[in-house]
Amino acid sequence: MKKKVRKVVFPVGGLGTRFLPATKSMPKEMLPVVDRPIIHYAFDEARAAGIEQFIFVTGRNKSAIEDHFDHSYELQHTLSSRDKHNELALTRDWLPPAGSISYTRQQDPLGLGHAVWCARNLIGDEPFAVILADDMVLSEKPCLGQMIEQYNKTGGNMAAVMDVPREKTKSYGILDIENSEGKLVTARGLVEKPDPKNAPSTLSIIGRYILEPGIFDVLETQKKGSGGEIQLTDAMNTMIGKTPFYGYRFDGKRYDCGNRVGYVEANIAFALDRADMKDRVMEIMKQFVSKE
Ligand code: UTP
Repeated sequence: MKKKVRKVVFPVGGLGTRFLPATKSMPKEMLPVVDRPIIHYAFDEARAAGIEQFIFVTGRNKSAIEDHFDHSYELQHTLSSRDKHNELALTRDWLPPAGSISYTRQQDPLGLGHAVWCARNLIGDEPFAVILADDMVLSEKPCLGQMIEQYNKTGGNMAAVMDVPREKTKSYGILDIENSEGKLVTARGLVEKPDPKNAPSTLSIIGRYILEPGIFDVLETQKKGSGGEIQLTDAMNTMIGKTPFYGYRFDGKRYDCGNRVGYVEANIAFALDRADMKDRVMEIMKQFVSKE
């Protein structure tokens, strides 16, 4: 019987250089979209998908993430003494039970594959999810939840996928499709950041994965790939033949918060998705457009 997906890895060890100087002393994953850090959305998505253990692979300069997922007693005390009950709830009511969060450090940011490998002892011998917080997804049903439902039927290594314009393939990992049936795509391979003319398709993976634990043996000896980094997708590629590699066409829209324009777009999209601010934000946007 397939094991349940109980654990998620949040790789948060990257340098976030595209957001300098904001990320000089603050982790990229703590950048807020509207009023909460992007890592908070990732955490909410994992929890809504039934995940019980949250594993952060951090690095230097990332302690703000640990503080975010802990009590802030001084602030809580002050809010409580001022009867600010709603604000107090926002600081603590969502905290997961003690012991369900673990942290490990990726001492050198050698790439996403390396970051995931750093979590091997915390994962053990069971399938697990990976969420890249800077890929945000707005959807009715959380993206990871959709994937776990699919994984429970098929097993294998899986990544969420979406179509991108052909001229953009150079920015993404692109699937070489063997077979496509409904939302599920079976890949015969994956090419990291191909030139549009060489791209085997326009189906790109986004930062949501479900992985079989066998990935750790492959990552152990994985050589550096695209960008001089140890790539997770290279390891998934190596496993094809033994472990199928599925792409899952998720329902929803993805926002790439890893770059500055995508981050601004995410802020607008998530604000418009909020009943408490939608109308005012729309009004402001209309004013901008009419001035152009
Ligand atoms: P990115 O490719 O966006 O890299 O990583 P980055 O370092 O965060 O940002 P830039 O390119 O310098 O601006 C995607 C995710 O993988 C994590 C990052 O923290 C981010 O959440 N990551 C990346 C690691 O945990 N370790 C790494 O070595 C690389």
